[in-house]
Amino acid sequence: MISVRAPSNIALIKYMGKRDSGKNIPENPSISMTLDALCTVAELTPSSGKGIQWVPELPQVSGLPLVVPALKDEGIGKVVRHLERVRSMAKEIFPQFGLGFQESGFVLKTANTFPPSSGIASSASSFAAMTLAAAAGFARDLEVFDRVWNSEARLRRALARVSRQGSGSSCRSFDGPWVFWELEDAVPVQASGMPEMAHFVILVKTDPKRVSSSEAHSLVRTSPLWDGRVERVETRTRLMMAALEAGDLVGVARIAWSEAWEMHSLFHTCAEPFSYWEPGTIDGLHWFAPMIRESSPPIVTLDAGPNIHVIVEKKFREEWRDRLKGHFAGNVILEDQQGKGASLIR
Ligand code: DP6
Repeated sequence: MISVRAPSNIALIKYMGKRDSGKNIPENPSISMTLDALCTVAELTPSSGKGIQWVPELPQVSGLPLVVPALKDEGIGKVVRHLERVRSMAKEIFPQFGLGFQESGFVLKTANTFPPSSGIASSASSFAAMTLAAAAGFARDLEVFDRVWNSEARLRRALARVSRQGSGSSCRSFDGPWVFWELEDAVPVQASGMPEMAHFVILVKTDPKRVSSSEAHSLVRTSPLWDGRVERVETRTRLMMAALEAGDLVGVARIAWSEAWEMHSLFHTCAEPFSYWEPGTIDGLHWFAPMIRESSPPIVTLDAGPNIHVIVEKKFREEWRDRLKGHFAGNVILEDQQGKGASLIR
């Protein structure tokens, strides 16, 4: 049996708009922070024949509060197609790393440490976990695979590229804590000046999304604000890289704030306007806005949903927990920290 875990990630510069939707090639670069405990666990059991199956059962990994995702037929089809993609790409890629490939069939179980629609990108962690688990399953020798996985950054890059084709943002869950993704490749960011960070999500609403992020990727192109978007994000990305390298928290927080507002403005102004914001989202944003002037401001961002992500220095975690619990007394708040990316559980 093979078990892996892969964390979700939260983008500060957003992947929104695809240049190639078949391969999930983004229009613009993005930058994210990899999470740690908010993750997907995937467990693979070899079976006879070459068939690949996903079953809605709990993996056996102990010690984690796991929830099995409720996939519909369409979702299961997407998973199985992705696992077939991993099979054919593993065959191609493995020889470059001295890894033997073996044909095999298996049964895959996956589960998340967070509930559905909780403001955590489950497709990012799920596709990263499934890609790593399946690749390990196609390796002739698991020990050798594990050794190469831990020593060869190029293998991470290669599997991140395969994972990206299943769900774009999953390619940023193979490394950490800071990851830059452009076109086909996701790589770690030099962020030597950054302190260790903690992460909170204020859950405003946990209903399933009315507009999926896949639909959002194509709708944003119809907004009048799409003009110049790619150039603006490229500039923002350069500034963000410099701010991360310098550990300039004020810079990181300001850039992330503008970027989150810009992505949501694209949603609000496209040809069929829609919004993920709830009254609680707007109240929260009002509350956070003046904090941008603080000397160690919170990094506030929103994914394609109503929930508010807050990243703060880990050394101030307790103070922030109290502050957030005090203001958002009626909301569930999830808590995590920066992480290192997908790994095998041995
Ligand atoms: C708003 O990776 O979910 O979270 O490639 O279609 O699977 P697909 O899209 P997905 O898009 C994530 C969009 C986002 C921003 C981000 O994570 O960068």
